[in-house]
Amino acid sequence: MSAKPRRGITNDDLFALRWDRGRRDLIGPLHRLYGPDSADLLDRLRDLLKKHWRARPADLRRLDLERDLNPDWFLSENMVAYVFYIDRFAGDLKHLPSRIDYLRDLGVTYAHMMPCLKPRPGANDGGYAVMDYTAINPALGTMTDFRQSNLALRASGISPVIDMVLNHTAKEHDWAVRARAGDPFYQAFYRMFDDDTLPRQYEKTLVDVFPDQAPGSFTWYDDIGKWVWTTFNEYQWDLNWENPEVFLAVLDNILFLANRGVEVFRLDAVAFMWKRMGTTCQNLPEVHDILQALTQATRVAAPAVVHKAEAIVGPQDLVPYLGTGRHAGRVSQLAYHNNLMVQFWSTLASGDSRLMTHVLKTHFPESFRRASFAPYIRCHDDIGWAITPEDTAHIPHMDAKAHRNYLADFYNGTHPDSFAQGADFQVNADTGDRRTNGTFASLAGLENASTPDAEDKAISRIALGHALIASYGGIPLIYMGDEIGMTNDHSYLDDPARADDGRWMQRPMMDWDAAVATQGRAARIRADLSHILRVRKATPQLAGMIPTRVVDTGHRALFAYQRLGDDREVTCIVNFTDRSQTLRTADALLREVPQTDLLTGQRLITSEGRMTLARYQSVWLRPD
Ligand code: GLC
Repeated sequence: MSAKPRRGITNDDLFALRWDRGRRDLIGPLHRLYGPDSADLLDRLRDLLKKHWRARPADLRRLDLERDLNPDWFLSENMVAYVFYIDRFAGDLKHLPSRIDYLRDLGVTYAHMMPCLKPRPGANDGGYAVMDYTAINPALGTMTDFRQSNLALRASGISPVIDMVLNHTAKEHDWAVRARAGDPFYQAFYRMFDDDTLPRQYEKTLVDVFPDQAPGSFTWYDDIGKWVWTTFNEYQWDLNWENPEVFLAVLDNILFLANRGVEVFRLDAVAFMWKRMGTTCQNLPEVHDILQALTQATRVAAPAVVHKAEAIVGPQDLVPYLGTGRHAGRVSQLAYHNNLMVQFWSTLASGDSRLMTHVLKTHFPESFRRASFAPYIRCHDDIGWAITPEDTAHIPHMDAKAHRNYLADFYNGTHPDSFAQGADFQVNADTGDRRTNGTFASLAGLENASTPDAEDKAISRIALGHALIASYGGIPLIYMGDEIGMTNDHSYLDDPARADDGRWMQRPMMDWDAAVATQGRAARIRADLSHILRVRKATPQLAGMIPTRVVDTGHRALFAYQRLGDDREVTCIVNFTDRSQTLRTADALLREVPQTDLLTGQRLITSEGRMTLARYQSVWLRPD
């Protein structure tokens, strides 16, 4: 008698298990988006996922397993992100590995390589007009270079992150080229109209994204006799997500790239993906169904991967991007916290934290299910002053429009009290709306600092911002050059493909001399940040799954929040003014127990129960 040989578990068995698990969270959104007859769609989706699962390289399968066992990996206090342009930081992909030591020194575990897929030639919106999602921008290298450099990053404990532009493709993308040649299958990939009746109706409620450089949301093409929906620039054609073929085709690209070592996809401009007549066509509920379907499908075929949503929207609209209601724990695991960013700049200008406290306390839950924010101070884009009348109504004598104007004036440097050096962006003649460009350092006063004291203040403001994002929750995003205080760069004006886009001001070439300097202001800023990040990594209460409770201090100058760790809380207090401020234990916020400020390593509360914060000082108090 011989026993039947026992078969080990095969990759196909594993896929079957993953699919069974995943389809539960896929069926709902797919039915809502594409109708109840989506059985055929589900079959095709399963086949697509299986194809990529089978092609997944062994090293990534191992990572999948690691993350199955540790699904909270991206919420760890160890996570720190660095955001850079490959060419501006390292030249190209072949040279990127030689810069890994720099990233490691800083404590980086997440490398967001700004758009690096093949863009259209000429103007391309900083790479956000992609003509081939399966090819690397030839100026940066090849797909093989990309895979190699991703392997080198992973070997150093750094997750490779890239942009996935979902709302639109370049008009030179193969799908768009075929659509333009008259192929109806591909015409259905985009939003095309034979005459301007519908576009005119839509435009009644649309908000112009680039009123200055690309007014309007539709473009007429004589050769095809059609209007095409172009929310951003004329050369970026909006995809039609009502067509399930678009869902499958984009997912195919995501999984192709996941199998080349991408661990996080930054899903670009997601707010705009669904359109409905009579609305602003932003943040519609269907967007969250699409994001759930993409995230859950990715989870089946590439479980090591997470998604980060880029929705730069008002507070109420932002929260659902991290999963609320039926989407809780099922949509993108990360989302930019643009409201924290806006409130940082607002409070830094006014020295009054009331609006910041109100907005962050009222609109945002203390935690999300298996998701968290990506807090940041600056990025490659402009700052949109997302401040609403509903929120300013809670602050005596504050008017939203006047406050937005004040902030635009403060940060373009024309306000008499301003320390900043920035510039207006996309001035909307109809609404009077203005947005702001400039680097962290220039907006924080470093460019204008003409005395040692002014320089010292600017450096303290930068440390304040970095301490805020390192402790508030989620993965702090450090934007390239901010760690060494790089100021505005005007060289883009000499490049015709960039000159009309002022956002290039905050996208300078990395200054490696400053980066390796051991003395001077760049060295000081970098040392401050390195210290902040070291303390973060040694403080489990700062991990992304730990709730963040905003606390009203009753002191306008001070903004405070507590990280409610299981064992102990950490109380973070920020002095947003250039004067010292004193708190007393009688003020409720300061508990009368021995506490150490983790940033200075000192007991700051005196025996009389007082604590004084120096100008622009942040403290992170933890009971001993
Ligand atoms: C995102 C990018 C921005 C780009 C836009 C359109 O908001 O951050 O730079 O212009 O999407 O793709």
